[in-house]
Amino acid sequence: AGRCVVAVDGPSGSGKSTVSRRLAVSLGAHYLDTGAMYRALTWAVLRSGVDLGDTQSVAKVAGEVDLRIGTDPQGYAVTADGVHVEKEIRGAEVTGAVSAVAAVPAVRELLVARQRQLIAHAGRIVVEGRDIASVVAPDADLKVYLTASEAARARRRSAEDAADVAATAADLARRDKIDSTRTVNPLRQAADAVELDTTDLGIDEVVARLRELLTERG
Ligand code: C5P
Repeated sequence: AGRCVVAVDGPSGSGKSTVSRRLAVSLGAHYLDTGAMYRALTWAVLRSGVDLGDTQSVAKVAGEVDLRIGTDPQGYAVTADGVHVEKEIRGAEVTGAVSAVAAVPAVRELLVARQRQLIAHAGRIVVEGRDIASVVAPDADLKVYLTASEAARARRRSAEDAADVAATAADLARRDKIDSTRTVNPLRQAADAVELDTTDLGIDEVVARLRELLTERG
């Protein structure tokens, strides 16, 4: 089969990661978690000790770190300067800082370019993030925007992280606000994206629906 790019965007807790991974497995395609790239870069920025508000220094660290990410939906490696950071990037420290780092224009420019290379190289791939349909892969074969009620999103994320629901809800609201109001590539639904509300849908139902949409598009 030829090239096929599926763009999956949406806020945290909308079911993006689980759905995108499952879809990639069922299609026999690659999978790219762009959030993991912003998280790994954030880990490197935190380790460097530069002030998060010093965008020039943040951009400098971003330009120097050797960031690598796999595209196997069954389990991918993420390394920064050779250090495996799969666990660290899910921790509270990185989660608390990632939206600030992702709002730095030079950081986005760098990672968007990298993401486009990975997509071109993979050929068949499901890509998840915030700006995939609008910026990274505007020519994607299918663009999906996943949503879910705030309550459902907080419930899912706190179950994943074994964290308190109220604290998770507050953190999601805080990140959504930064992600959707930043000046460069904010979280936004692309005009030609299919919106899917996953609040009352199971993972299998969402994946089945996306496969249907892909078939309809030939
Ligand atoms: O998807 P995930 O929650 O892992 O993303 C972490 C953060 O990375 C988001 O809150 C957002 O600030 C940033 N991000 C982004 N653009 C993307 C993917 C993630 O700005 N394409």
